Amino acid sequence: MSRPPVTGATVVAGVAGSPVRHSLSPLIQNAWLDAAGIDGVYVPFAPPTDGFDAFVSGLRGGTVRGVNVTIPFKEQALACATSATSRARAAAAANLLIFEPDGSIVADNTDGLGLLGAFAAQAPGFHVNTAPVAILGAGGAARGAAAALLAAGCPEVRIVNRTLSKAEAIAEALSGPILAFALPDARQAFAGVGAVINATSAEMNGGEGLGAPLEATPDACVVMDMVYKPLVTPFLHWARTLGRPTVDGLAMLIGQAAPSYEAFYGQPPPAGVHVRALALKAIEP
Ligand code: ATR
Repeated sequence: MSRPPVTGATVVAGVAGSPVRHSLSPLIQNAWLDAAGIDGVYVPFAPPTDGFDAFVSGLRGGTVRGVNVTIPFKEQALACATSATSRARAAAAANLLIFEPDGSIVADNTDGLGLLGAFAAQAPGFHVNTAPVAILGAGGAARGAAAALLAAGCPEVRIVNRTLSKAEAIAEALSGPILAFALPDARQAFAGVGAVINATSAEMNGGEGLGAPLEATPDACVVMDMVYKPLVTPFLHWARTLGRPTVDGLAMLIGQAAPSYEAFYGQPPPAGVHVRALALKAIEP
């Protein structure tokens, strides 16, 4: 089905980030809108880095149905909301704001669903409630992943970070079975895990290899990277060389996009749209 023309009734949503130019979300969301024949459009927004609150004030009250939020605004997005879901509060960040007609703003975080969806899509035999999971990094992405894993019943989350105090701060902030490790102790953290997740920015956009000792993980350990550019990071490449099953960051991006679409347009994305192939073409033309 092809998309109806933009009209006065068109539902507008988008993604706010800085920079936002390379975001794949418009490509994914508009492909779904096209296929569903919904009178909606999804556009990029690049508010000034010191102007997020003013940007949100301009959109509230129903001008725009909602926005996804990406770097560097996820923490501010949570702070500016009228109310927030428990998963956004646990992550201490929002990747989704819904602007209600009465002027209120609801913050949510679908990154955790994206993470779980990525495992389901690319490592369907792995279940997060069966074994400890190690997370590399202690920034916002790592905290969100830890919160989602604990909420999904993961028996133990191990945060491994270059700066130990940041890993300890996450462990303290989230209640449940969660431990902090310094990066040199990664071997210890990797013992007996069912999965290892890279939530550091070390290898983004061609950055240096993280050098994580993945050989210390069990043979069946699933290795996931949240980074999708490059799609196969040195971290995932090393995992594949060791024969570990892998999950990539694009699966997580698509996984978080689906519940966002549903929040904007009131229905799940249509089946049979090859958004991964479209996104891959954009990442690696
Ligand atoms: P985000 O909020 O997107 O997760 P962030 O807060 O900048 O981003 O966090 C990035 C994470 O990547 C941090 O845990 C950082 O480690 P430090 O806390 O020690 O700074 C980690 N990181 C970035 N570059 C790294 C590198 N070269 N080696 C190891 N860890 C790195």
